Amino acid sequence: MVKVNLGGCSSFVKDADYNDYVTKALAALDTLESGSGAGNDFLGWKHLPSETPESLIAECEAVRDCWKAKGVDLVVVIGIGGSYLGARCAIEALSHNFAKQLSGKKDAPEVVFAGNNLSEEYIAELMDLVAERNAATVVISKSGTTTEPAVAFRVVKEYIEKTYEDASERIVAITDARKGALKTLATQEGYKTFVVPDNVGGRYSVLTPVGLLPIVLAGFDVREMLAGAAEMEKACAVRSAENPAVQYAAMRNLLYSVMGKKIEILVAYNPKLQYLGEWWKQLYGESEGKELKGIYPASVNFTTDLHSMGQFIQEGERILFETVVNIEKSNRSVVIGSDPQNLDQLNYLAGQHVEHCNAMAQLGTKLAHIDGGVPQIEVSVESLSAYNLGGIFQFFEYACGISAYVLGINPFNQPGVEAYKKNMFALLEKPGYEEQTKAIKARL
Ligand code: PA5
Repeated sequence: MVKVNLGGCSSFVKDADYNDYVTKALAALDTLESGSGAGNDFLGWKHLPSETPESLIAECEAVRDCWKAKGVDLVVVIGIGGSYLGARCAIEALSHNFAKQLSGKKDAPEVVFAGNNLSEEYIAELMDLVAERNAATVVISKSGTTTEPAVAFRVVKEYIEKTYEDASERIVAITDARKGALKTLATQEGYKTFVVPDNVGGRYSVLTPVGLLPIVLAGFDVREMLAGAAEMEKACAVRSAENPAVQYAAMRNLLYSVMGKKIEILVAYNPKLQYLGEWWKQLYGESEGKELKGIYPASVNFTTDLHSMGQFIQEGERILFETVVNIEKSNRSVVIGSDPQNLDQLNYLAGQHVEHCNAMAQLGTKLAHIDGGVPQIEVSVESLSAYNLGGIFQFFEYACGISAYVLGINPFNQPGVEAYKKNMFALLEKPGYEEQTKAIKARL
């Protein structure tokens, strides 16, 4: 269960203002629940946790088992934005920090990501790895026309086709049910295909095959993840001031609109959660940053970044608030030993768990940042598990929909993403862009 603690904001906001924003957030929840708001043809994500059929999970597991039988030890997941961030977040959050370096038999193939940049060096080095391993690939693009994954896929596909006799069994496509170049290609080549539902946008798609298949391939329990998300699907739909998604959406909008806090920093105290920050930034940045409005989403990992961004957060311009993802219990135990000489002067910590130090760093930072004028929202789960991660995904998606509606924004489109694409296509002289090519070249 995801819980929200707003205690770290109480010295900054008036109760009456908070109550006002809870009223606005409840109205936004009504809009989301009745499906009467902007972008209402993209609400399929709300019921993915409770409505995902067992047969879909079984299909993902069938791919896993087929590739296991072929001895596949490397899966290249190709996608960008919402077509990779959720899977990467889940896999990094649930994996051993040193899974790659640990010796011993690996139960699951290594999953690596590509198609999320256009660096030639990245693709060349990816192919160095692919050449050493027994590889398969999952290519993910809802539109089926995005350049970055299409370029990476062309390179990986060519290699797989020239290397393996069973090439078409080593390629899975996840795309639209009917349209797009990837759909056409997958149908023609006879690839196993999964569908991204029409009514789920990229950044809300982690609990569709877009996230589920890579997570299953990496060896993690998506049933648990969906169960945790299902608990939050229920909790976030309740019309109450106790609804955690309502609380979070109300407070962040109040901090933004009344207190002038333009930047929200997602904070984690566990390096495994770095990609939760990346996933969350895309979700909120692409959902809310429109019409010259929106909170700018940033992320940090503490205590690491207390030694870099900590200075700005403590004393820089006062336009920030923090949302801390608080993991209450560590999954592992390391107790600090006692040293007879105590040369490092750490004996005062002897017998303590490292996580106790982390918790005290967290508490100390909270108090310091509040003293420095940075309000703090806490989003807590008991431990880092597939179940709780599923809950975190559903919670943040729900809160994002509510929050954007409070702001008067359509949370489900991304018109601004097209601008760079048009210029890039014109500069690359893509057929159909002849006029734009002429115009852009005249500007240079
Ligand atoms: O949230 C979104 O819709 C986007 O970030 C997309 O996920 C991203 O642009 C990739 O699009 P596609 O899956 O069509 O290749």
